[in-house]
Amino acid sequence: MPTVLITGANRGLGREFVRQFAALDWRIIATCRDTASTDLASTDIEIEVHALDVTDGESVRALADTLADEPIDLLLNNAGVYGPRDSDFGQIDFAAWDEVMRVNTLAPLRVAEAFAENVLKSDRKQMVFISSMMGSLAQTTGGDGFIYRSSKAGLNMSVKILSNYLKPRGATCVMFHPGWVRTDMGGPSAAIDPVVSVSGMMNVIKRLKPEDTGRFINYDGFDFPW
Ligand SMILES: NC(=O)c1ccc[n+]([C@@H]2O[C@H](COP(=O)([O-])OP(=O)(O)OC[C@H]3O[C@@H](n4cnc5c(N)ncnc54)[C@H](OP(=O)(O)O)[C@@H]3O)[C@@H](O)[C@H]2O)c1
Repeated sequence: MPTVLITGANRGLGREFVRQFAALDWRIIATCRDTASTDLASTDIEIEVHALDVTDGESVRALADTLADEPIDLLLNNAGVYGPRDSDFGQIDFAAWDEVMRVNTLAPLRVAEAFAENVLKSDRKQMVFISSMMGSLAQTTGGDGFIYRSSKAGLNMSVKILSNYLKPRGATCVMFHPGWVRTDMGGPSAAIDPVVSVSGMMNVIKRLKPEDTGRFINYDGFDFPW
């Protein structure tokens, strides 16, 4: 039975990934910041729930120590934040920018670094990073969204480098745009629901091959423009 570790598993896309991997009988290591206030462990899904604040080095190290040398077939870096939506030029909230970069850009690499050996000793050796079309330079035509867009563009660059770095060891690292999804982040007017988004990404994940490493992929399987 393959193992997946999911960050930000308590709600939104992370929660739907838990549900869909459970249906496939994967071993699920579901992580979230606050294990006390989530009902993840009390669902009828058999999962292991662990505390993990992805921005906190101590928290990441503690989980890495707990999991020791257990193989992780798929490391799913999903946790993310949007930050303030009104931080336009002239009134940029630099403190908020700093925090969003810590969550969206630095933390996925911190998590990847901490669990790389677990992934590399697994059968599948896969890392998936939930990015966004808003990190695409090609798709950026407006003059707003400094904080979130730059955080995901930075993530894409870091994952591209990571994919090259780990390629000789057989790892497959990809980024996804999950679509505009009806979660707390996407809001109620978003285009698709989490079931559609995650089903699409699961279809791609099932077929991932080492030669896919470094791809930026839309949830429906098409390559996304950088
Ligand atoms: N929804 C969309 O339309 C959309 C579009 C493009 C990309 N994305 C990306 O998809 C991913 C999932 O987003 P979502 O829509 O599911 O958002 P969401 O419903 O707001 O959920 C965000 C998740 O990230 C977790 N998180 C935030 N900061 C964290 C931290 N420091 N440590 C651990 N977990 C943390 C949250 O945990 P708490 O409950 O503790 O806050 C929550 O579980 C994100 O990376 C997002 O950028 C979403």
